[in-house]
Amino acid sequence: MVENSLSLTSITNNLETHIIGRRVIYYPSLASTMEVAKQEAQRGTVEGTVVIADEQTGGKGRLRRVWLSPKGSLALSIILYPSMVYLPSLIMLASLAVVRSIEVVTGLKSQVKWPNDVLINGRKVCGILTESEVRKNIVGYAIIGIGVNVNFRLCDFPEISPIATSLSDELGREVSRLDMIRHLLIEIERLYLTLQAGGSIYEEWRDSLVTLGKRVHVKWGETIYEGIAESVARDGSLLLRRSDGSLTKIVAGDVTLRNQARTLPQEQAEG
Ligand code: BTN
Repeated sequence: MVENSLSLTSITNNLETHIIGRRVIYYPSLASTMEVAKQEAQRGTVEGTVVIADEQTGGKGRLRRVWLSPKGSLALSIILYPSMVYLPSLIMLASLAVVRSIEVVTGLKSQVKWPNDVLINGRKVCGILTESEVRKNIVGYAIIGIGVNVNFRLCDFPEISPIATSLSDELGREVSRLDMIRHLLIEIERLYLTLQAGGSIYEEWRDSLVTLGKRVHVKWGETIYEGIAESVARDGSLLLRRSDGSLTKIVAGDVTLRNQARTLPQEQAEG
């Protein structure tokens, strides 16, 4: 039987991190961990503070979408005060930490769909949202929000089931959310320390991308770009080879892998 109940002590007890998780704020139920994290960051809480909810009732996805976080999911936000140079790397850091943690805890291989979705067998298992406040090139705070579908059956959520998966659906058994949370915090700290020591996480992130070499369709606002996802730049942007031979640098957007065009019935992030 997998231990699935979360509590502050079970999350923090003997946690092998020094920065990430030195303060943990836990809620059994919360609208969104992003909102509480933002308030804490504006109050100047200690770096590495983590806000975790057992379930979210108003989870936020990218591009103002809804993020489903029923019981059995993992929903947390981490507050950092990085210098400006590390800001573009936070998305890489978060998605890589998720890929590493999924593999350590479950043995499952996952991949990153640019810019920051984590997929297993082509279906989304994790979404990442970063928010920051920057004034005059100085980062006030950065918040990394991570949602992982751990233990719930996608067949109970038909609005996302065509494009999403969960760790338990992939494995056919439940997974310890505590193990997932604790490994995630450890991996995030490792990668954050690597960055601060002048190391690079770009190569590992690039190699974990499912997007490269594929024909893609990228939507950003009203603009749609099509082409072959040729490479990613060190700042995380996507380099798209267009049919006229030109190379377009795309900083943000929503990617559809052209041979996997599956659409959602409503505006909803795959939670
Ligand atoms: C996306 O793929 O659209 C990003 C989803 C991010 C969801 C996480 S769950 C924890 C944190 N709290 C939120 O309300 N959203 C993020």
